[in-house]
Amino acid sequence: MAKRTWLITGVAGFVGNNMALHYLQQGDTVVGLDNFYSGSKENLPANTNFHFYELDICSDMLEGIFQDHSITHILHLAAVVSVPICEERPEFARKTNIEGLENIFSVISKKAIKQFIYASSSAVYGAAKQLPISEDVELKPISVYGQTKVENEKSAEAFCNEASIPCIGLRFFNLFGGNPAIKNDYAAVMPIWVNAIKNDQAAVIYGKGDATRDFCYIDNVANAMDCIVSHDLTGNHVFNIGTQQETTLKNLFEMLCDVCEKHPEPEYKPWRDTDILHSCADISKAKNLLGYQPKINVEQGIKKWLI
Ligand SMILES: NC(=O)c1ccc[n+]([C@@H]2O[C@H](COP(=O)([O-])OP(=O)(O)OC[C@H]3O[C@@H](n4cnc5c(N)ncnc54)[C@H](O)[C@@H]3O)[C@@H](O)[C@H]2O)c1
Repeated sequence: MAKRTWLITGVAGFVGNNMALHYLQQGDTVVGLDNFYSGSKENLPANTNFHFYELDICSDMLEGIFQDHSITHILHLAAVVSVPICEERPEFARKTNIEGLENIFSVISKKAIKQFIYASSSAVYGAAKQLPISEDVELKPISVYGQTKVENEKSAEAFCNEASIPCIGLRFFNLFGGNPAIKNDYAAVMPIWVNAIKNDQAAVIYGKGDATRDFCYIDNVANAMDCIVSHDLTGNHVFNIGTQQETTLKNLFEMLCDVCEKHPEPEYKPWRDTDILHSCADISKAKNLLGYQPKINVEQGIKKWLI
């Protein structure tokens, strides 16, 4: 099979780093873009088939990347990901998440891109009435972050109709894996807890610990991506990418404690209104259309991640 040339935006972040390594391992070329807003230089792969541009996705210099490389596939991940930061700085979040994607569309419209894949989020659903959540329920995001992802999906649909480039939005549920080191106060809950458990510090659980999430190990994302790339999808699509396995926060905390072989008491704090109480993906669409099947459940993922 002809090797692909990927453009991965947000390549210095958690998902970007893992997907870059995945495709480099398959012999593809990866062109990465990041401005290190939340990503870090240590996440950039050292590989002769990896080329890096330190650039903002809103920059008017994006065009240069397409002049330098014959990009065949795009994986757009760059975004302001933290829900609290999006609430604190909505204009900044909208500029990065919404205008950033539109800026990419403005430069790729005339290029020979086979697939445009981008990160949406389970946050588009808001407080779902019924679990597991399927793609066709009404989108009612309760956070600025979720709203920006809904806008992304609308732009992708319009762009796909106009440019006839297949657009595939991935509504990721709670992903974990990769480097467990914490980069900032707004890191995802799992690395924060692991750090607290290992260092005998207080781990905070918001609410009573009965909130649930679909925690999805990063290798399942690589698996989903492979399914997408091997299918000649046309048109515009969105897929839930999760495991369809619901885990309470309390249960997750206990699993992390078991693997770390330490059992501190968590500190409970009041629930935050921009957080979703229950979330779990219905993955039937990705299963039926793409043959996606998550191979690693939350418990196996935690062991692979931390042991
Ligand atoms: N990790 C999850 O559980 C999860 C869940 C749902 C959706 N997502 C989505 O997946 C994508 C990747 O998430 P992640 O967990 O890897 O987050 P991350 O913060 O680790 O990575 C995001 C990357 O984007 C870069 N970035 C931010 N603003 C930029 C800009 N203006 N220009 C260039 N680069 C910029 C950051 O520096 C960072 O490297 C995001 O779009 C996120 O919304 C992630």
